[in-house]
This record gives sequence, structure tokens and C-alpha cells, in this order.
Amino acid sequence: MRIVLVGPPGAGKGTQAQYLAKNLSIPHISTGDLFRANISQGTPLGQKAQEYMKAGQLVPDEVTIGMAKDRLDQPDAAEGFLLDGFPRNLNQAEVLDRLLEGDSRKIDAVLDLEIPEDEVVKRIAGRRTCRTDSSHTFHVVYSPPKAEGVCDVCGGELYQREDDSEDTVRNRLEVYHRETEPIIDYYKVQGLVVTIPALGKVAEVTQRAMEALRQKT
Ligand code: AP5
Ligand code: ZN
Repeated sequence: MRIVLVGPPGAGKGTQAQYLAKNLSIPHISTGDLFRANISQGTPLGQKAQEYMKAGQLVPDEVTIGMAKDRLDQPDAAEGFLLDGFPRNLNQAEVLDRLLEGDSRKIDAVLDLEIPEDEVVKRIAGRRTCRTDSSHTFHVVYSPPKAEGVCDVCGGELYQREDDSEDTVRNRLEVYHRETEPIIDYYKVQGLVVTIPALGKVAEVTQRAMEALRQKT
């Protein structure tokens, strides 16, 4: 199955993606995680992305699309994938459709996580992310790690993402409304969108998502 996950920053895309990808046996592909891995390895791509991410702006398409394409060309993505954070504007959505069409692949569903803005702020303020692998995320209140400051999954150090400051989060929300929300209408025209409330316990949201996705297959 080929799924695109959309929703504002802090909606729980990364959290849900881990469970959904496991349940559906498809790789979780997060452009945010790919950028953060490049930044921590000090690659030229990471250097290009860093300033934009720090400011809560989108990394330019010239950088993002090539990186996403390389990842989608990996053998494990041939039969399915769960895209988290890509596409993030109309141009990326159109390019993705063309890329997939070229290989006779197509998106099966777009899962839209709906969440009130005040909850987003609470979730992001308490988020702690693993330095070793940024897909390992925790929350100081909602899902605390067993030992403070230490990742349960790999033992890595937990930190607060630089783009999780209040000002940057405001920017990221603005960018989401302006650049990313229009892709929901783009996919609605194709009949692909399922919207679910992202409030409630993590497992409840996963269950809702699985039910919604079943309707699309
Ligand atoms: P990215 O890493 O994609 O960030 P984002 O979209 O802003 O999303 P987040 O990672 O902030 O939130 P999430 O929805 O994954 O929430 P999470 O599960 O962690 O992108 C970062 C930057 O990279 C962008 O700003 C941009 O610069 C660049 N970028 C990336 N892709 C790009 C692209 N395609 N084009 C251009 N630029 C790009 O959950 C949040 C917190 O809430 C956690 O602490 C979690 O534990 C907690 N939580 C989750 N679910 C629940 C629940 N049900 N109940 C209670 N707490 C919960
Ligand atoms: Zn970790």
C-alpha cells in the first residue's frame, strides 16, 4: 500500500507512522528524519537544509525532491511506503505523481490527521527527540521515556529539536496552512483523502487510522 500522511507539525505523524508502517509492513519514509540524519552526519545536503529547518521554512524543492526520489527508488519501497512530511507543497505532489506514474505506481490513500492548534503547541512543547535516530520521539507528559533524557529504543540522548521553539513552531504552522494544506484539496479531487481526528491516546488514533485505511483498499 502507498500512503501519504499529512497534518500540521506535532499532529503525531511520526508517532503514528511507526505503528502503521509496522502493521502494514511498509517502510516509513520521513523527509524530516532524512534531513536530520544528513545534518547529524554533516553531509552537503544536510548543510543546505539546516538553515531552512531552523527557521521553520520549507527546504527548497531542488534539494528535497532529489532526496525523496532516491529514497523511493530503494528496493524496500517498490511494493509500498508510508510517506511522512512529503509531499509538502503542490509542486512536490505533482512531481510525486509523475514519478510514480513513470513506474506504474500510484498512491492508494492520503491520511489526514486533524488536530486543534492548542494541542499541537502542547505536543511540540513536550516533545523530546533522540539524537541518534529522530524517528524515536517521546513526550515529557504523554509518553515519557523510562529513564529521563535517554531513548528507550536505542539508548541515545534525548533533546529538544531546535525547530521546536515557540517562534519557529508558529512559522511552521503558517507554512503548513499556506503551502501544505492545498495538497489536501489536490488529493481530494483524486478521491484519496481520509481525515481522522488525531486527538486521544496514541493507540486509539492508530486504530482509527487502520480502520480508515481499510476503507481505501
Ligand atoms: P518534519 O520533521 O516533517 O516536522 P513536522 O511536519 O513539523 O512534523 P513534526 O515532526 O513536528 O510532528 P509530527 O506530526 O511527526 O508529530 P510527532 O509524532 O513527533 O519537518 C521538519 C522540517 O524539515 C520542516 O519544517 C522543513 O524545514 C523540513 N522538511 C521536511 N520535509 C520537507 C519537505 N517535503 N519539503 C520541504 N521541507 C521539508 O508528535 C509530536 C509529539 O506529540 C511527540 O512528543 C509525541 O510523543 C506526542 N504525541 C503524538 N501522538 C500523541 C497522542 N495521540 N497523544 C499524546 N501525545 C502524542
Ligand atoms: Zn533512539
